[in-house]
Amino acid sequence: SQSSRFADCLLGWFDVFGRHDLPWQHPKSPYSVWVSEIMLQQTQVQTVISYFERFMLAFPTVQDLAAASQDDVLSHWAGLGYYARGRNLHKAARIIISEHDGEFPSHFDEIVSLPGIGRSTAAAILSIAFKQKYAILDGNVKRVLSRYDAIDQWPGEKQTEAKLWHRAEVLMQTERADDYTQAIMDLGATICRRSKPLCAECPVKAGCQALKADKVGAYPVSKPK
Ligand code: ADE
Repeated sequence: SQSSRFADCLLGWFDVFGRHDLPWQHPKSPYSVWVSEIMLQQTQVQTVISYFERFMLAFPTVQDLAAASQDDVLSHWAGLGYYARGRNLHKAARIIISEHDGEFPSHFDEIVSLPGIGRSTAAAILSIAFKQKYAILDGNVKRVLSRYDAIDQWPGEKQTEAKLWHRAEVLMQTERADDYTQAIMDLGATICRRSKPLCAECPVKAGCQALKADKVGAYPVSKPK
């Protein structure tokens, strides 16, 4: 089908050109995937790498994080910005100790209930760390899918977002949930970039409706005035 072709092409590309040596990929434990996804919400990969490494040395387990003071946690966040992320991470660690016996929860409803974790971050953790088939939809993926389907509506609209979630789920036609999530993020970051996308090198260019119409630059559609 069309959807399994999208996933197969994307994964074939990922095996050769994707990022496989990021520090949070070894090991892909729920704790390290969670910490990295929170850091990556508003900060670039290149910046996150050194912060992530220092954070994991200071707080190697969720037990260590929960036992630390908020000041100690935030001192390791200094420079990353958006401190609410650090405070929520600390709060969530204490909830994991008190309500989940210190074991990172593995169900969507439990994960999305933790402070600082929305639907897409929960899906990233479930797919990458638990290999469950949950689609993500962050800013990069919204751009990729808006172009692939040539969606003529602003992604900030509720209805557009619902359509994008549906497409994100339909296109995730693979058992390799962990690699698929990393692959579609890598595609958005390195090929389907906001400016100067590298369409000639894109593994899913054959199905891209924006490229077909020679209108990649027109997507995603911007906010109506
Ligand atoms: N942005 C959010 N999550 C990411 C990840 N796992 N790898 C690269 N960029 C990301």
